[in-house]
Amino acid sequence: MPYLVRLRCPWSRPVLDASNVLTLKIESNPDDFLWLGYESKLNEVRRQIARLVNVDMDECVLVPNVCNVINTILRNFEWREGDAIASASKCSSQRRVVAIVDSIVSGPGAAMPWRDMVRTCKEEGVWSVIDAAHPLGQEAVDLNAVQPDFWVSSCSKWLFARRGCAVLYVPKKWFRESLGGEEKINAYCRSIALAGGKRLAGNIGHTRDGPIMRFIQVRLLELHKVYASAFYHNHRWWTRASAQVYNEVRHGQLILVV
Ligand SMILES: Cc1ncc(COP(=O)(O)O)c(C=O)c1O
Repeated sequence: MPYLVRLRCPWSRPVLDASNVLTLKIESNPDDFLWLGYESKLNEVRRQIARLVNVDMDECVLVPNVCNVINTILRNFEWREGDAIASASKCSSQRRVVAIVDSIVSGPGAAMPWRDMVRTCKEEGVWSVIDAAHPLGQEAVDLNAVQPDFWVSSCSKWLFARRGCAVLYVPKKWFRESLGGEEKINAYCRSIALAGGKRLAGNIGHTRDGPIMRFIQVRLLELHKVYASAFYHNHRWWTRASAQVYNEVRHGQLILVV
């Protein structure tokens, strides 16, 4: 990840003075500051930033700079074959797409429609990582209204904090929301249940033998860590293969393999 060097403001006088006072205080007793003074001061800053962008304090952390954090975010995806990182100009049809969107481009200076782009990302099931190096202190931001997956802004550019300070926002999400929400989950599960069921129906054959079905169940569990219940109903043996969000159509094949 290239380290971009663009806007390096000199510290403003009030920031420099306050910083010097604090430095002298810290250095007079570093342990006292680290153990007793640091956390409340840190949280007060997080609270102020959170208010500025209309989110919960728990959704904001202070970080060293924008590039460092975008690098960390991207390295923490579990990348798989076929996944892609998309820039604004690239259209793709990969399995999972992570879009990196500038909110204000620095060269040439241009404001991007990042709020609309986040909305589009949500609609398309694309992860949004917003490089918001420049908005803090330059434009009003309501992150609660937009809710990108990740948003990182520099505090040392237009907000005049000391260099070496940026803020990362990650919205709190319920687990099922992070998977795309109930509608998507239900649609996905239904689609693989139908596709898997079709494949099984043509291939599974028939047996009236209970012990054999029991044998199949045990083999499924032992060999593939898969469970599909089998039961006799209406003069026939049935198997029930449940489709969950972590399944793919190919998992239905395991029943056939056994
Ligand atoms: C759009 C953009 N992103 C990222 C950065 C780098 O920010 P940082 O120095 O906080 O890593 C800059 C620097 O000016 C920038 O203009």
